[in-house]
Amino acid sequence: MSGRPPLSGHFPNQFPQSGEAKPIGTVVQGSLSEGLEVRLNPDVSVEEMRVGKFCVVYGRRTRFFSMLTDVTLGTASPKILMNPPAPGDDFLFEVLAGTGTFGTVKLTPMLMFETVGGQSELRPVKTIPSHFSQVHEATSYDFQLVFGSEDNPEKKNFFIGQPLDTDVPVCLDLERFVERSNGIFGKSGTGKSFLTRLILSGVIKKEAAVNLIFDMHSEYGWEAVKEGKDASAVKGLRQLFPGKVQMYTLDPESTRRRGVRDARELYISYDQIEVEDLSLIRGELNLSEASIENANILKHEFGRNWIGTLLGMGGGELQEFCEQHGAHFGSTIALQRKLLKLENLRYIKPVSANNYIGEILDHLSAGKNVVVEFGSQGSLLSYMLAANILSRRIHEAYVRKAEQYLQTKKPADKPRQLIITIEEAHKFLDPKTARQTIFGTIAREMRKYFVTLLVVDQRPSGIDNEVMSQLGTRITALLNDDKDIDAVFTGVSGGQTLRTVLAQLDPKQQALVLGYAVPMPVVVRTRAYDETFYRQVGAQDPAEMDDDQLFREAELANHDLGF
Ligand SMILES: Nc1ncnc2c1ncn2[C@@H]1O[C@H](COP(=O)(O)OP(=O)(O)O)[C@@H](O)[C@H]1O
Ligand SMILES: [Mg+2]
Repeated sequence: MSGRPPLSGHFPNQFPQSGEAKPIGTVVQGSLSEGLEVRLNPDVSVEEMRVGKFCVVYGRRTRFFSMLTDVTLGTASPKILMNPPAPGDDFLFEVLAGTGTFGTVKLTPMLMFETVGGQSELRPVKTIPSHFSQVHEATSYDFQLVFGSEDNPEKKNFFIGQPLDTDVPVCLDLERFVERSNGIFGKSGTGKSFLTRLILSGVIKKEAAVNLIFDMHSEYGWEAVKEGKDASAVKGLRQLFPGKVQMYTLDPESTRRRGVRDARELYISYDQIEVEDLSLIRGELNLSEASIENANILKHEFGRNWIGTLLGMGGGELQEFCEQHGAHFGSTIALQRKLLKLENLRYIKPVSANNYIGEILDHLSAGKNVVVEFGSQGSLLSYMLAANILSRRIHEAYVRKAEQYLQTKKPADKPRQLIITIEEAHKFLDPKTARQTIFGTIAREMRKYFVTLLVVDQRPSGIDNEVMSQLGTRITALLNDDKDIDAVFTGVSGGQTLRTVLAQLDPKQQALVLGYAVPMPVVVRTRAYDETFYRQVGAQDPAEMDDDQLFREAELANHDLGF
């Protein structure tokens, strides 16, 4: 976008000036429920019409912002199909094109731009344009009108990508984004992690919320590998926002090896593990239902340190305990054996003196973002256990804070909006566990306690329906499985037409964005996460760097010079 937007944009019924937006065709049929059928102009090739394209229909009073959702070939007479022109018969091709043969596209109107009482505004679609209304490609002004601009000082807009066929920025409204839980979906390798890092950068940069990020593959906090011809590294959030991100690690050696010197170590002790945590990792530990029941008995008898106590018991002692308390010996001893696996997790300690939760909470309330790196401890078992324990306690503290704020109503007591990012979300939120675990609770209670989730997942069909329908904004890269595609549209009206759009995305760096943080669904080429982005978003001004960062930059500079 350059210069002032064209004046014509201000009046819903005014056509774009010539040269501004290409005319595409004419509305010939349609309904509010099924969408519009548009006959393409003879000079427009169907091959240029990709699903997901943003088009504008000029009704008499109203402009309809629409998405192209299907493309078909039409003929005026079946006779033409029985005698198609011979290959190379360009003359006949030309004669038929536009009258005998033509392309049609289906448009789904998503928003109306109309003038009510002298004010032009965007509203939900309640009607359709009349016969033979003209359809044009959207201009950059149209995009800006609908998706806003990053420069608007009154809004926390974040440029997330560009439309398929133009270079106008499409923005997410981050203030709306952080108010609900959100999802980032797509099959493996489609760009979920890149999208997540991009959006988290936006949230940090615009201070829309603070983040607690469970970084399973160590790719958000500090350098991540970029696939491609020259496998290079991209920067992590800590590198982009040195003063605003604190890293914690469950695998200090790995984190240090990767060049992070000031990550805090994090340990979890047996007495912090609840039976609820074990239910969540039941599958990973291969625990039976009976073992969980026995865990409850043990907890009841031994209190907080029941795991430590159980692990220290000999066979005879255990048998005696079971007889006395009506626990099943076979499954209790199995429980003991399986819990021994926890000893292999290097961040588990019998006891831990440090109050990590309090520390993390202090960072969050000071507006710092916290990344928890797993390093070699990124197995599902390990990831789910740590994320669940930490999130439960942080959520508890948030509930207390929020309740206090509701009583006092003092702005100083207001908790900072917190987003918790989890990967492999379906493991935490499948229909069976979502009802019992902290993540299900957070997703369902919405923003009541100022905590929401950012779930990143390649298998959305594994996520509980109720949780899916609570997700405010869904950003979805390519998915192949029908069940996963259906899941993304849970609770979305008109989801059926968007299915085709989703199925046609490129396998990389394209996404369908829909929901609360955008006025209408839109397909974007995801903004590149690269040097240009670092410059646009990062705090590269040395005045904003902390000492540690300056030191590291100096060290890197020396390194580059060959010292
Ligand atoms: N926004 C982006 N900017 C730059 N490269 C990207 C972007 N999105 C995806 N890529 C490329 O695609 C690869 C896979 O993306 P990634 O986010 O790791 O996929 P996923 O997490 O879905 O498995 C990356 O290594 C990178 O090369
Ligand atoms: Mg990934």
